[in-house]
Amino acid sequence: MRFPAGFLWGASTSSYQIEGGNENSALAAWERKKGWEPCGKAADSWRLWQEDIRCLERLNLKAYRFSVEWSRVEPSPGVFDPAALARYAAMADALKRAGIRPMACLHHFSEPAWLFRENPAGWMSEEAPRRFLRFSERVVGALKESVSDWLTFNEPMVWLTAGYALGHFPPGVRRFWDMGRLFREQGLFRHVLLAHREAYQLIHREVPQARVSIAQNVTALEPATGSAADAAAVETWDHFMHRELLDAMKAEGTLDFLGINYYTRVFVRRSWMPLVPFRAFAAHAEIEKMLGPFLFRLLGGRRGDGVLTDMGWEIVPEGFERVLRAFWERYRLPILVTENGTADGDGSRRESYLRSHLGSMLSAMEAGVPVEGYLHWSLMDNYEWGSYAPKFGLFRVDRKTFERTPAAGAEYYARVAKTGEL
Ligand code: FCB
Repeated sequence: MRFPAGFLWGASTSSYQIEGGNENSALAAWERKKGWEPCGKAADSWRLWQEDIRCLERLNLKAYRFSVEWSRVEPSPGVFDPAALARYAAMADALKRAGIRPMACLHHFSEPAWLFRENPAGWMSEEAPRRFLRFSERVVGALKESVSDWLTFNEPMVWLTAGYALGHFPPGVRRFWDMGRLFREQGLFRHVLLAHREAYQLIHREVPQARVSIAQNVTALEPATGSAADAAAVETWDHFMHRELLDAMKAEGTLDFLGINYYTRVFVRRSWMPLVPFRAFAAHAEIEKMLGPFLFRLLGGRRGDGVLTDMGWEIVPEGFERVLRAFWERYRLPILVTENGTADGDGSRRESYLRSHLGSMLSAMEAGVPVEGYLHWSLMDNYEWGSYAPKFGLFRVDRKTFERTPAAGAEYYARVAKTGEL
């Protein structure tokens, strides 16, 4: 089994999760408020970025997805830090010199604290996309010589659900039951679409060969039972969580490819509870953690019986092929896998996870799905939104010295990246 020559092998990270010292992010105060483990120095990548490039080289990788930290580049409203922008540009240049394609993401969950001070409604207000575009202009201006692959948003639905429905991220709005109205009528979809559309146009104006998309989190959905009601619930949830935004972007012509993040599968059941949005209960492990096992089961939550990662996410490689095929059939756009990986603290499962997921991706490709590349989440252990316990890295990071050492499975990935063979 072999991947085509020119297939792009890489890894992904995000600014807040690796750089360290992002005290101006709304998340820094949020951690204190919520009693989360502090992010602190993260993987100290703001200082050690050259080390990170060496890590990519050691794994024979040819693409690196990173994000630009809004709160660092624009620490107070309208005040930009030219040194921070220059440092991202230097990194992108160094990556290119090393033969590694830099891929920049403009929004990966973290936002400046001032955004909510100016406007506590966050993305429910039209100010947010305006502010985001002002920031994007500076970033594109600084990186246009070296970066042609861009993602505007990482997992917009995950981020918006966490921030505006579950109260898990800033601004901490809890309106789960009202999600449909909140997203469709109170501006969340509209404002993200506006920000994406204008950022798309901006990037294309500045960078002639640009390729722009978002990274969409897609779980493989399955009905909890064989009933028609559960099948309909899957369809409703799939549309809302995975397709509604992408459909609009596709219709507006603002996707040059499709970025897909795949991790696991989720069972969906038609719920008897009026408070469950769309009466579609999607039994994600995160929801079970929030509700507790009793309420979770009471609401009809069903978990798969496969092996779980340290996140409690079921390992379902065949779901990956299914998702890739479905998204190709619907959108007919080339696909870049912008994230896939596993929290694997004892190092026992990364290699087999990689083997099975890459195999599943290759089957999709053999069936005609144009997957152009695969970016593993993550290059190194990092801050998993509240905790350092999950270990997603191809490199382990010593929490005191920040020394990077290859994790179990890294050698395997380096070999695949070199030979294209599984
Ligand atoms: C994705 C996020 C990424 C990371 C992985 C494990 O949903 O985009 O930041 O947390 O999950």
